[in-house]
Amino acid sequence: MAAVALQEPRVEILDLRHFSSVDLRPLLDEEINVWSRLLSWDYHGSADMILRYVDAKILPGYAAIDRGRVFGYAFFVYEGSKGVIGDLFVANGSRLPNAHEVESRLLAHVIETLQQSPGIHRVEAQLLLHETGAVARPFVEQGFSRHARLFMVLPLGNPKAPLPSQPEIEIRRWSEQDYQSAAAIITTSYRGHVDSDINDQYRTLSGSLRFLNNIVRFPGCGTFDTESSFVAVHKRSRTLVGLILCSRVRHDVGHVTQVCVLPEYRTLRIGESLMGYTAANLRQRKFSLLSLTVTEANKRAVDLYLRLGYDIKRVFDAFVWEG
Ligand SMILES: CC(C)(COP(=O)(O)OP(=O)(O)OC[C@H]1O[C@@H](n2cnc3c(N)ncnc32)[C@H](O)[C@@H]1OP(=O)(O)O)[C@@H](O)C(=O)NCCC(=O)NCCS
Repeated sequence: MAAVALQEPRVEILDLRHFSSVDLRPLLDEEINVWSRLLSWDYHGSADMILRYVDAKILPGYAAIDRGRVFGYAFFVYEGSKGVIGDLFVANGSRLPNAHEVESRLLAHVIETLQQSPGIHRVEAQLLLHETGAVARPFVEQGFSRHARLFMVLPLGNPKAPLPSQPEIEIRRWSEQDYQSAAAIITTSYRGHVDSDINDQYRTLSGSLRFLNNIVRFPGCGTFDTESSFVAVHKRSRTLVGLILCSRVRHDVGHVTQVCVLPEYRTLRIGESLMGYTAANLRQRKFSLLSLTVTEANKRAVDLYLRLGYDIKRVFDAFVWEG
């Protein structure tokens, strides 16, 4: 028994700030491969950003260590009174300890730290790499609610469907001047919506502006792609009634980061039209794939995407805690 115990790897969970990019680089390289394989997502930019923050010792989180080697990590960020769990990744090589067990331990540390941080009243997490249920236990045990979300993809090789048109609505390219009106549309579109339970930024105008800022100005969710992002304008009143925002997550893959239409303008095929403009633009530029995420309970949106030819590629979870 003693000999077995000696051979068993002893995993330590330590503060991420003990480490530098040199320690984490091999793990992040492995993670880049997984993002590419599972989600067709080029994670190089995000990995570089994470490593810069690690070197600056400003990224809160934990690392899993086996015989001096970092083989897993999880990090979070503070956004006012909210903590957002940014990522969780454990290498799954055969000579390593049970990856799933290590994921749970890393998450338990992150959750405890956040729930005990003074002034933090809300914690959100969306872990795209992890299949629904796979990492749910530590969240559920600590009182989080759980929402299934779908990762959907549309291959862009298929022939182009004709775009529906509405005589009263004009679709034009997104411009920087649309910021304020876009934030108002997002806030109104998500009032009482399941997605504003998952992401509380949607609940207020200032939150929606922060959301837009993150999407358009920072590379957190790919690189914003102006050319494939559009707004729907009511011709007579010249007001914005809907929008679609798209980012580039790989040289040939687009990702819809936002699509919404004001409630009083729904069912008029404006949503379908916006989706069509984005797909047509990317197709013209030789992109091969367009992806998006949607809450499973958002049936109207899910049905629309299925009808447009999107496939469900993965199901993952969003977790929310309010204390
Ligand atoms: C999803 C959304 C963008 C769709 O916009 P839209 O302009 O209504 O979409 P369309 O008219 O092109 O078609 C949507 C489908 O939903 C149906 N639909 C839309 N609103 C409806 C309503 N109030 N009651 C019943 N059916 C409705 C349409 O008839 C259509 O159904 P079909 O595909 O079976 O023909 C819009 O509902 C919305 O902004 N929702 C809130 C934000 C959101 O959920 N965004 C997606 C996040 S992933």
